Amino acid sequence: MDIHPHWMRDGAGPLYQQLYQYFREEIQSRRIPPGTRLPAVRALSQSLLLSKTTVETAYHQLLAEGYIESRERSGFYVVEWEEEIVGAEPRARSVPFLPSTQRAGTKPDAHGEQIVPIRYDFHQARVDARHFPYDLWRRYSNQCMQLENREILYYGDPQGEPVLREQIAAYLQKARGVHASTDAVVLGAGTQLLIHLLCCLFRLDRPVVAMEEPGYNGVRVVFQQHGFPIIPIPLEEDGIRLDALEESEAPLVYITPSHQEPTGAVMPYAKRTRLLQWAARTGAYIIEDDYDGEFRYQSKPIPSLQGMDQAGRVIYLGTFSKSLLPSIRISYMVLPPELLRVYQEQLSEYDQSCSRIHQETLALFMKSGQWERHIRRMRTIYGRKHQAMLSSLQAAFGQRVRIKGQNAGLSMTVEVPSALTPEELASRALSAGIRVYPTTKKWLTSPAEQPPAFQFGFGGLSLAEIEEGIRLLAQVWTPYLGSG
Ligand SMILES: Cc1ncc(COP(=O)(O)O)c(C=O)c1O
Repeated sequence: MDIHPHWMRDGAGPLYQQLYQYFREEIQSRRIPPGTRLPAVRALSQSLLLSKTTVETAYHQLLAEGYIESRERSGFYVVEWEEEIVGAEPRARSVPFLPSTQRAGTKPDAHGEQIVPIRYDFHQARVDARHFPYDLWRRYSNQCMQLENREILYYGDPQGEPVLREQIAAYLQKARGVHASTDAVVLGAGTQLLIHLLCCLFRLDRPVVAMEEPGYNGVRVVFQQHGFPIIPIPLEEDGIRLDALEESEAPLVYITPSHQEPTGAVMPYAKRTRLLQWAARTGAYIIEDDYDGEFRYQSKPIPSLQGMDQAGRVIYLGTFSKSLLPSIRISYMVLPPELLRVYQEQLSEYDQSCSRIHQETLALFMKSGQWERHIRRMRTIYGRKHQAMLSSLQAAFGQRVRIKGQNAGLSMTVEVPSALTPEELASRALSAGIRVYPTTKKWLTSPAEQPPAFQFGFGGLSLAEIEEGIRLLAQVWTPYLGSG
């Protein structure tokens, strides 16, 4: 579509500013809709009797603020945005980035602050909701809600429905090498809730818990609320430092060996063996959180620690939050024999926290073989997104940032050397409608020595959103990069 700007000088401010403001208002009001190509610089300067520099400066201002994008050998286009199907926050209609000095068109919040709607949210827990198998899910849900299946309307097995535990045990054995009998699987509505149950099991000893530093704050807070002291154990390139772990003499360690949260480190086989030897020797328990073990991109998955354990020292945790949906709230643990006995003695009075209807639906979904098909499909989709994320970061930032943990899962960590703090960088991004997440809260101690680091989730964004979001982010961050 060709547009003919009806711009007239109004004498207020420099010409480029007037032209920029004219376009900004036209774009905000959608009188110039997304996807429209702006007139070429030369053509516009001739028709409006302006210098080329004036037009270029106005366009560059619009570009820097995210109203338009530049397409190679094609020109400048008004940015396009898609509404997301499922999001952590309700998405307002997108309005391009407005810097703090020019916030016309944004909405004030309860405190009178202006809010820029989020166009790109790189939260690591977002998954691809567009490929959720709605039809199949409805079919299996209807199937288990048949009139003759009245039992489904009542409380179920406190440990979780046996039909689902059986499917999970078989799947874990096949996909992750986990030795699990149906009996040893315990379901719970989320990893935090399972950790809470473990805290109940360990409550008499209230052991010191060793945790990766940085590590998963969602779990750390549960230990802390139960009054378990935490010892932060530093990381190295291939995961937790075993010498520091040994020195801590902790009888319990929580780790994410297959995709360290948040750095993404993968613990190699030899190190897993040494960790297991330590646990067998000292009688310590290892909580292995294999939250996104399904998705690996560069090499074959390393078997779970639990599958390699001969001494019954590993508590294996997993979740459907990455492989299916976080809103389903079904996570599970596989308890070693000694702890299973304590669980059955002490916690069998607790009712199951997962919906019985969802459990039975999921059991049918898994039994039908559709589950494995879904995982294969999602592996391909996430593989593409993973690649798009990597190449977008490389194209936009080159050597100026360091990408870590890109082997697995639905996120990668990026170190961004800058004189600004991570929070300041995040706030600059936010004012451009981009939400990014510093890894700061994953630290128990202070990450002072490190360059600002961010965890970039790509699961919930489309390929185009990944590319556009990173490109816009590079425009916003470039002036602040360099001296970390
Ligand atoms: C390390 C880790 N474990 C587990 C989960 C998933 O937790 P849940 O099972 O409560 O959804 C996440 C979510 O992002 C995570 O980062």
